[in-house]
Amino acid sequence: MTIDFYWRLPTHGCHSSLRHGGYDRGDWSPLGTHNVAPGLDRQGRDDGFRYIDHLAEIARAAESAGFIGGLIPSFPNTDDPWVISPLLARATRTFRFMIAFQPGFLNPVHAARLSASLQRATGGRTVFNIITGGGGPAQLWWGDSFSHDDRYGRTTEFLDVFKGVWKGEGFTYDGRFYQVRDGGLSPLLSAEDLPEIWFSGSSDAALQSAAKHADHYLSWLEPFDQLTDKFARVKERTAALGGEQKCAVRVDLVARATEEEAWRDIKLGFENVDEARRRQSRGGPTDSVGAARQQALRPSEARRYEDLIVAPNLWGGFNLLRGGPALGIVGSYEQCAARLDELIARGADAFILAGTPHLEEAYRVGEEVLPLLGREAPALLRAAE
Ligand SMILES: Cc1cc2nc3c(=O)[nH]c(=O)nc-3n(C[C@H](O)[C@H](O)[C@H](O)COP(=O)(O)O)c2cc1C
Repeated sequence: MTIDFYWRLPTHGCHSSLRHGGYDRGDWSPLGTHNVAPGLDRQGRDDGFRYIDHLAEIARAAESAGFIGGLIPSFPNTDDPWVISPLLARATRTFRFMIAFQPGFLNPVHAARLSASLQRATGGRTVFNIITGGGGPAQLWWGDSFSHDDRYGRTTEFLDVFKGVWKGEGFTYDGRFYQVRDGGLSPLLSAEDLPEIWFSGSSDAALQSAAKHADHYLSWLEPFDQLTDKFARVKERTAALGGEQKCAVRVDLVARATEEEAWRDIKLGFENVDEARRRQSRGGPTDSVGAARQQALRPSEARRYEDLIVAPNLWGGFNLLRGGPALGIVGSYEQCAARLDELIARGADAFILAGTPHLEEAYRVGEEVLPLLGREAPALLRAAE
């Protein structure tokens, strides 16, 4: 069995270290002594360097370190993945671009044509992360007032239409959200491969939609038993529809030569988080089941970094250091490999990995952790337990 490894591309700036909080790579933070890629020189003049140049460096590093592609997230504060992808395609050779997007914001026929053109231009390197939105104020920021389950209904129909028109001419669809008469991509475009569909969301509605349309069901990292259960549920639903579901996990790693070194970085990072940030990180209003599952992992009082250790090598405070999901893996290279092996044994078929800073850590994880997979797991896991 081949396990695909993707890297994450930080489209809203990157920290130069987890030990301190600023987005000091990119122009998201004001120019300062530590900002290395803000697009401005030390006098504050435009130096001709764009953040896309930094992303291209990360994509090239990940490509040469053995990652098959990169996830390009989409949030209100990020650059747009549809724009980033073709630019990065020109800077890499085989690297695939996993475009995160909310289907409801695009017309499915236009999205199919856009994607087929992208496939033609990049030699079939487009992959999707279908996201359906976390509700609350963030959803209204996008101008979307649909309820949680209606959003998933719309996602399902979007993918019905997207796949339908891709098959070629004479496609007709009469749904609640979309109607198409005699549609279909032109032969040149429909000859391209359909982008692989990865699908994120933890609710029942998400699992149902994923079972129908996803090639990979994608989850944030959760305690391993919880994740195993979620994978089993989505695999069961897909099997009931006559299909087979692959599952994938998005995992942050702090992998160092020794376990002590890895926890030292976490400790230093944690000690630099101020109280306001700790309160903020408990999360705003959302109807996202996935976000609620992450929030449930956070104790309301965490005085020491040790309070956030969820299981051996699993730390639940990553959201404090860099935003995003809470849980990640911390340990020696061998321990990180062993934990990934354990996830594979529990049903993971693919991974999106991340580390801070994304450029250097792409090399480190590619060189030090990935080659150990499949070797050390059994003995190390026994020792840890
Ligand atoms: C691995 C992963 C990556 C995600 N990436 C994004 C993203 O880039 N942008 C976004 O708005 N939501 C993102 N999400 C959120 C989900 O797609 C989904 O909108 C959210 O979990 C609500 O659905 P739920 O109630 O079914 O969990 C991501 C979720 C996961 C698990």
